[in-house]
Amino acid sequence: MANQPRLADIGACVFDAYGTLFDFSSAVRRSRAAKLPQADALIQLWRVKQLEYTWLRSLMGRFADFWHVTGDSLDHAMETLSLDDPALRAELMQLFLQLAPYPDAPAALKRVKAAGMRTAILSNGSTTMLAAAVTSAKLRADLDFVLSVDEVSTYKPSPAVYARAVERVGMPANRVCFVSSNPWDAHGAQAFGFHSVWVNRNSLKRDRLPGAPEAVVDSLSELPGVLGL
Ligand code: LAC
Repeated sequence: MANQPRLADIGACVFDAYGTLFDFSSAVRRSRAAKLPQADALIQLWRVKQLEYTWLRSLMGRFADFWHVTGDSLDHAMETLSLDDPALRAELMQLFLQLAPYPDAPAALKRVKAAGMRTAILSNGSTTMLAAAVTSAKLRADLDFVLSVDEVSTYKPSPAVYARAVERVGMPANRVCFVSSNPWDAHGAQAFGFHSVWVNRNSLKRDRLPGAPEAVVDSLSELPGVLGL
């Protein structure tokens, strides 16, 4: 995308996981459900409810980890779409632990790390889920930190989550570039005090929320340019 701002003096890049590095639709696409007429609706409803439940549980003060929420949202989506199939449910949950990385993710991570910046994931995913996804996608060597909201028992975009990354990565907020394809997450991170980059993979219209992202890119391939690499 033309006329991007150039972010200066960035010491760490912190990435969202699902939708940004890992393609959550690959769980359904790689499963038996891929051939069903409900496949697209299942991908969408599962994801919408998964996120909704994180926000609602945060507001209710009833945290349960992302594995639990992912199962609950899948149950809701499958029931809504008349998919009464426990074996398929088990298959989808297993595949969520081995999501495909987006093709632009490995190279972008490597480039950022090679430039001497610290690299991290900061995700709603549980510690166990993230470890599985990172290993399966072979991204561990390119990440200095893999951080889960499990450490604070609430979900993004709570400022408490972004604040934990500042502590753990050891870089002040104004030297952190936060990268997410989830627009509400990019807004949340910018509102917190990070420099945020929205990877607008699906050409969505901009959200009307506090914290407009500083840069908007189509894919992670454009990230090195935004960082002046
Ligand atoms: C995550 C969700 C937002 O990885 O996809 O945190």
